[in-house]
Amino acid sequence: METDQLEMMIKMALAVRKRAYAPYSKFHVGACVEANDGSLYAGCNIENAGYTATICAERAAIFKAVSEGKRNFKRIVIVGGYDKVKDFCPPCGVCLQVMSEFCNPETFQIILVKSIKEYKVYTLKELLPKGFGPAQLL
Ligand code: THU
Repeated sequence: METDQLEMMIKMALAVRKRAYAPYSKFHVGACVEANDGSLYAGCNIENAGYTATICAERAAIFKAVSEGKRNFKRIVIVGGYDKVKDFCPPCGVCLQVMSEFCNPETFQIILVKSIKEYKVYTLKELLPKGFGPAQLL
């Protein structure tokens, strides 16, 4: 069951990656986040001529989910690369910061995917060990 769901997430991330709008970098990324209730949300990177207005695939997926009322997440799958996916694509610092707003650092899994059979799993805490988060604010 869990494996089937992971396979589905990888397929969704690969499919949404085809919709990436990346005319500047040509680097196409797809992500699929799973909410605690098992629902899935996919997002791709969307670039902008004003480069800072670009949004990464991970944040596109998470913001879609939050817009649909989800605020707690189990894991995210990320797949990225130029034409073909040749390597693992770790999330940028801004995306890790957004994850830290909504995800438990000890349990939230960040799954970097090279192919349907080749992936690496990290916790949010491993990739952002000493981040500033909601716990620091009153
Ligand atoms: N990008 C993502 O969407 N996610 C990542 O994990 C890394 C980078 C995007 C942003 C930009 O559109 C392009 O990839 C190159 O940085």
